[in-house]
Amino acid sequence: MRKKLISRVNCLTLVAYLLVLCTFVVGRKLSEIGNDDTVIGHGYKVTHAQIDNSTKTLTAYLQVIQNSSVYGDDIQSLNLTASFEEDDRLRIRITDAINSRWEIPDEIVPRPPPPSFSNLNDNPPSENQTTVLTTKNSSLIFTLLHTTPFGFTVTNSSNGDILFNATADPNDPNTTLIFKDQYLQLYSTLPANRSHMYGLGEHTKPTFQLTPNQVLTMWNADIPSANKDLNLYGSHPFYMDVRSGPINGTTHGVLLLNSNGMDVEYTGDRITYKVIGGIIDLYIFGGPTPVKVMDQYTKLIGRPASMPYWSFGFHQCRYGYKNVSELEYVVDNYAKAKIPLDVMWTDIDYMDAYKDFTLDPVNFPLDKMQQFVNNLHNNGQRYVPIVDPGISTNSSYDTFSRGIKDDIFIKNHNGSEYLGSVWPGPVYFPDFLNPAAQNYWTDEIKRFRDDLKFDGLWIDMNEAANFITSQPLENSTLDDPPYKINDGGGRQPILSRTIPGSALHYGNVTEYNVHNLFGHLEARATHEALVNVTNKRPFVLSRSTFVGSGKYAAHWTGDNAARWDDLAYSIPSMLNSGLFGLPMVGADICGFMDNTNEELCRRWIQVGAFYPFARNHANKGSTYHELYVWDSVAESARKVLGLRYRLLPYLYTLMYESHLTGTPIARPLFFSFPEDVETYGISSQFLLGNGVMVSPVLQAGAESVTAYFPQGNWFDLFNYTNFVTASTGASVTLSAPADHINVHIREGNILAMQGEAMTTRAARNTSFNLLVVMSNSSASTGDVFMDNGVEIHIAGAIGTWTWVKFQGELGSSNVTITSNVTHGGYAKSQNYIIDKITILGLTKGVKSTSSIIRHRSRTVNSNGLAIKTNDNEGNFVVSEIANLKLSMWENFKLELKFD
Ligand code: NOJ
Repeated sequence: MRKKLISRVNCLTLVAYLLVLCTFVVGRKLSEIGNDDTVIGHGYKVTHAQIDNSTKTLTAYLQVIQNSSVYGDDIQSLNLTASFEEDDRLRIRITDAINSRWEIPDEIVPRPPPPSFSNLNDNPPSENQTTVLTTKNSSLIFTLLHTTPFGFTVTNSSNGDILFNATADPNDPNTTLIFKDQYLQLYSTLPANRSHMYGLGEHTKPTFQLTPNQVLTMWNADIPSANKDLNLYGSHPFYMDVRSGPINGTTHGVLLLNSNGMDVEYTGDRITYKVIGGIIDLYIFGGPTPVKVMDQYTKLIGRPASMPYWSFGFHQCRYGYKNVSELEYVVDNYAKAKIPLDVMWTDIDYMDAYKDFTLDPVNFPLDKMQQFVNNLHNNGQRYVPIVDPGISTNSSYDTFSRGIKDDIFIKNHNGSEYLGSVWPGPVYFPDFLNPAAQNYWTDEIKRFRDDLKFDGLWIDMNEAANFITSQPLENSTLDDPPYKINDGGGRQPILSRTIPGSALHYGNVTEYNVHNLFGHLEARATHEALVNVTNKRPFVLSRSTFVGSGKYAAHWTGDNAARWDDLAYSIPSMLNSGLFGLPMVGADICGFMDNTNEELCRRWIQVGAFYPFARNHANKGSTYHELYVWDSVAESARKVLGLRYRLLPYLYTLMYESHLTGTPIARPLFFSFPEDVETYGISSQFLLGNGVMVSPVLQAGAESVTAYFPQGNWFDLFNYTNFVTASTGASVTLSAPADHINVHIREGNILAMQGEAMTTRAARNTSFNLLVVMSNSSASTGDVFMDNGVEIHIAGAIGTWTWVKFQGELGSSNVTITSNVTHGGYAKSQNYIIDKITILGLTKGVKSTSSIIRHRSRTVNSNGLAIKTNDNEGNFVVSEIANLKLSMWENFKLELKFD
């Protein structure tokens, strides 16, 4: 950990840092005024280009115009292909025409192979000609411009808007494309006033929308997320661009699939990639909505993993729990305080001298830990321990000896093992690129689980973090490349506190190229190991991630500092993770590094209860902040977690939807309201699914919150009679007393909710309450997906799952609510019943039911139903129909009359 970044920088390094900073600033100035000496690249010219309509591919040769040796010589000739892999997915690939270069292996991020590059006709294009590629159904057009230097654009085919504009800027000598061995540069100009950019992480940002004039560095590092604007644990070179005009909300996505270190400079009117290796492999996703972009993006990179049901319960963790008794004490106190607790975690404290897969024989002895975990299980609770990648080199440590025997550790360039240092002291790092590492890892996990029946694993420090910085190899541009990315904000050498770039992986792959994949590969190996060892749906929480890691892992936002700002920034961080295909995400509730306080912790659980992944975690030495510590926090926790547990079927269904289509669980407001430009800049509110909106207090002392409500009627989820009507979008100031967070549901939504309970297991045994929010303008819809929550293949064999869609319609004299069941078998096996329907959004109450029609036309007498409607105090009434006993496994149609 780099807790106090600056304090550790001694004077000498500070001087060096300032020098580097000056070079950077001066360098930028010079390039801006166009001093020719600093031209990094003069660009390329197209020498041949042709289109193959059968493969929907454009192929071109590019030739460098004039060499520049800044950051190394230009690569003379390049191949460019543009191809439609799908109608809404365009791939633009540019690489060395002669020598093969590092690319992320297909095996790591599986994807269609690039088009083969056959010899081209002798077909030199004339100056300023264009070659245009599109397909009949495509939303995108690719245009190659035969200018000097060459350029290309990607246009939206339905409105002509230029989405990616890589054409030369006559005022900038550093042209759109520069291609050297260790420096690739590509830019696109953007319509600054219409382009709203999101993504490009992982960074801590005060706002979700990217603000102009910043450098976004991607180089996985053990840098606490308490630091704003620095490269953090993961790398996701993906952005979403939401355009205002010509049609508000038209959205596309762009991925530069490249695992090398990079700086992405964003100025508002331009985005420039500066990458220190690999190739240009650009994917453009045509959208045109945010939801469609997520579908298209996760179709390529991998759909988010399905998560076990229990993982949507509340989690408690702390670095510094002293022994098993303390763990028991915490679990007991949650029970005594009547605060739900599903999962208890242990940090590195449980290990023997911080060695993975061992237990401290004194404080966490095996027999006591077994008893502890058994008790949790008997109580419907779960246990997740931490594992770090660094394997102690202690010669009497079996995990180490087996690793040596299997020869699976990362090597130095001379073939010896690379020696780093983490919690246990000297360590070797498993090379997850080595196929033999999977068996090794699975075997170690299995041995440990044979002893202790943990339910999931937490993989930390996998950037990989290293407490030492190795000396760079002499003259190695892998340890010290010509272009210095802005690692850690100081343009420090990229080997700083990690494995050096010159270290070698299986197949002589350099760490330089795969550094950003370490956490991803560990997550994959751990996921596979858990499938193998537990035969259940895995739960893996990973700190470091890369493009596609959502397929294997959940994510938390890392080491925040327990300040109010950290609470506020947790929302942009969570929303970004969703864009990156990692929807199961949350921040350390109540704050990690420093001491929290009662008010902050109370406000934090109010927000955290609505993170997809809700875990309270604290640093060693900080004050305890379990939810029962302060009465006011406990009281608020009961209230908000009570709602969370009632929403579990909804959260779980959103997870399933994420798994199918990539739409995040927690979403920015513009996902549901892309046409409303007011939503683009919102960083302090979020949606769960389509229509549940969370508008928290994020400031000390505040007892009210000003929140933006997109058009519609919105009902308070805690107290159905409170509502907000926004005839057009409106900012509304709501009261938010100490124990309250504003959570609203919009008209047009239906939620299948269950009862409150202390664990997800108990909540699953309660009957359902259908909350139907009527709308005058459209039918209301909602759905619920049900299974046992631990099947490895979600929605696999028939009989193991049920999916029910609901619809509600408002007529002049009645309300009809129908269900449409897919595979009722599972719901039937569990005897899932809807006991109560609550209807919001009506201006007069329902009085009677005509009939309940179940499938096969069986009519059920409505006698015995309890219909209750509150007084029409405001505009809306709340109608409740109880004692329904509607079975979830049969289609029903319920007609409710106003008279
Ligand atoms: C760093 C992690 O980010 C933090 O959550 C954890 O508590 C410490 N490592 C100790 O394992």
